[in-house]
Amino acid sequence: MCGIVGYIGKRQAYPVLIKGLKRLEYRGYDSAGVALITESSGLQVYKTKGKVADLEKYTDGKDVTGTIGIAHTRWATHGEPNSTNAHPHISASGQLAIIHNGIIENYAVLKDQLMEKGVEFRSDTDTEVLVQLIDYIRTKKNVDLLTSVRMALRMVIGAYALAIIDKDNPDQIIAARQSSPLVVGIGDGEFFLGSDASPIVEYTDKVVYLDDQDIAVINRNSDHVEFVNVNNEKIDHEIKKINLNLSQIEKGGYPHFMLKEIFEQPQCLMDCMRGRVNVDLNNVVLSAVIDYRKELINARRFIIVACGTSWHAGLIGKQLIENFCQIPVEVEYASEFRYSNPVIDNRDVVIAISQSGETADTLAAVELAKKRGAFIFGICNAIGSSIPRATNTGSYIHVGPEIGVASTKAFTGQVTVLTMLSLAIAKARGTIENHEYETLVRELNAIPEKQKQLLDECNEKIHEIAKIFTYARNFLYLGRGYNYPVALEGALKLKEISYIHAEGYPAAEMKHGPIALIDEEMPVVVVATKNALYEKLMSNIQEIKARKGRVIAIVSKDDDKVRELADEYIELPKTLECLEPLLATIPLQLMAYYIAVAKGKDVDQPRNLAKSVTVE
Ligand code: AGP
Ligand code: GLU
Repeated sequence: MCGIVGYIGKRQAYPVLIKGLKRLEYRGYDSAGVALITESSGLQVYKTKGKVADLEKYTDGKDVTGTIGIAHTRWATHGEPNSTNAHPHISASGQLAIIHNGIIENYAVLKDQLMEKGVEFRSDTDTEVLVQLIDYIRTKKNVDLLTSVRMALRMVIGAYALAIIDKDNPDQIIAARQSSPLVVGIGDGEFFLGSDASPIVEYTDKVVYLDDQDIAVINRNSDHVEFVNVNNEKIDHEIKKINLNLSQIEKGGYPHFMLKEIFEQPQCLMDCMRGRVNVDLNNVVLSAVIDYRKELINARRFIIVACGTSWHAGLIGKQLIENFCQIPVEVEYASEFRYSNPVIDNRDVVIAISQSGETADTLAAVELAKKRGAFIFGICNAIGSSIPRATNTGSYIHVGPEIGVASTKAFTGQVTVLTMLSLAIAKARGTIENHEYETLVRELNAIPEKQKQLLDECNEKIHEIAKIFTYARNFLYLGRGYNYPVALEGALKLKEISYIHAEGYPAAEMKHGPIALIDEEMPVVVVATKNALYEKLMSNIQEIKARKGRVIAIVSKDDDKVRELADEYIELPKTLECLEPLLATIPLQLMAYYIAVAKGKDVDQPRNLAKSVTVE
């Protein structure tokens, strides 16, 4: 995954790079490094295992001057996370320094070829092959840096966002992209590079998002960035204005981004529905459904592709679309879909759901479906990211940057967009009764207020409950219907940040196996709201209690039966069954959060994970 930052201009590069790395740290945080062309000592590379804060400590007292530099925060794919494998990597001659996000698939072959020619390698990474290859071509063929980068990239198979500097040329950075994200920021006499726009927003709102196979040539004394492809053909890029402010990417008084993002959900859902849901006019408007009405309402089938939390949102989307639009829906893990041989054609609509818009598997699934003729609809959060750019149309969830590695507000944003999408299509197809549509529009619009009420009422209680259950080594999460994906999502949140093993199940499946795990040690979280399946869930709870399991129930406000049976309970404001996930998920997010905090875990940057999975 990795975060990359670059700077060239009139300021000191180091503070810009460090601040940028901190903003990108959610993308990877096992090691960090920086390369600067310093005023007195030339090219200096500092890198260390650990986080950006460790890099700062490491550079303390060292020469970090200079107005050009590149920096990296790593999520290792090849080679263990240590200071040797950390980026930047330098070529054997000491001439070039590179940072890279992605995977060079054919690195082993290239490495063997270079070693046969006498090139010595220092690290176990795939990245080092890139810099060695570029430098080898540069010296052997006696060509300039751009030419050697172009020639090397023609030989490379894989994914990269990279930036490279030359010790003898403090006036140039060369950057390139293939499948991993890269943004250039254009300031006044200065240029910035970032994996996303967050390291750039503080300095300029003018950016260019690189496309695959673009190479950016950034020269200090130029007033523009030149873009070419590997064949040296000039590429024109439109400069975009970004609409992201600093307060959106800072913690705003909360101890962790995750808690801030959980509490932001009411506001986020209002932003997500703004201009789309109108109770007075009794309608839901999504511009994509107006522009592509024919493709969407005549779809033979929807196929949802996504990973992780976004896949859970997809499972809710399936129920919404099938119930209201009466169109069959399949939900696939993007990683499986991309390597399957799916039977799809131009009557199918593929919905790709991704918070980051950069998940490599989801992007590849989109490309495959496109090739086979499907119409592609994206549901993403990061504006201008790769997936929305690869789709035919889509709807952004507009919940603002999500920094905590565990996804929270993006999930409820995705479910909200899926709800709006299903309502808009159902209305256009005439598969929903007017009164049902009207009730849904009204109830959907009321969700942010109910989330606020829920957060106020349950936060402290969950904080207390969490303290009781830190002992647990396993958790079971159960739900049915619309709340089955909520159970999956609750379990994923807990395992991601507290490292407690947790599994989500459809409640009725418990008796087909998981019930064997239940004893007095086993906490079972049951989403048992008063809906059509309430009585069935009651029986499941009885079965758990009969085996001395400990039940934490998520119940409706007017419930009395489950409350009596459960060891602990959280009450939810009442809403329609299909909208319950927008409420029921919140206590489960909070519970995972408080358990992880009680166990002293790093909530925003859990071990082994990264926010944006741009590698397979
Ligand atoms: C969520 O908490 C996870 N960190 C992860 O499962 C995530 O949802 C998944 O990697 C998909 O990411 P995306 O939405 O950015 O595509
Ligand atoms: N493959 C490179 C490494 O392991 C970059 C990793 C990444 O982008 O996730 O260092």
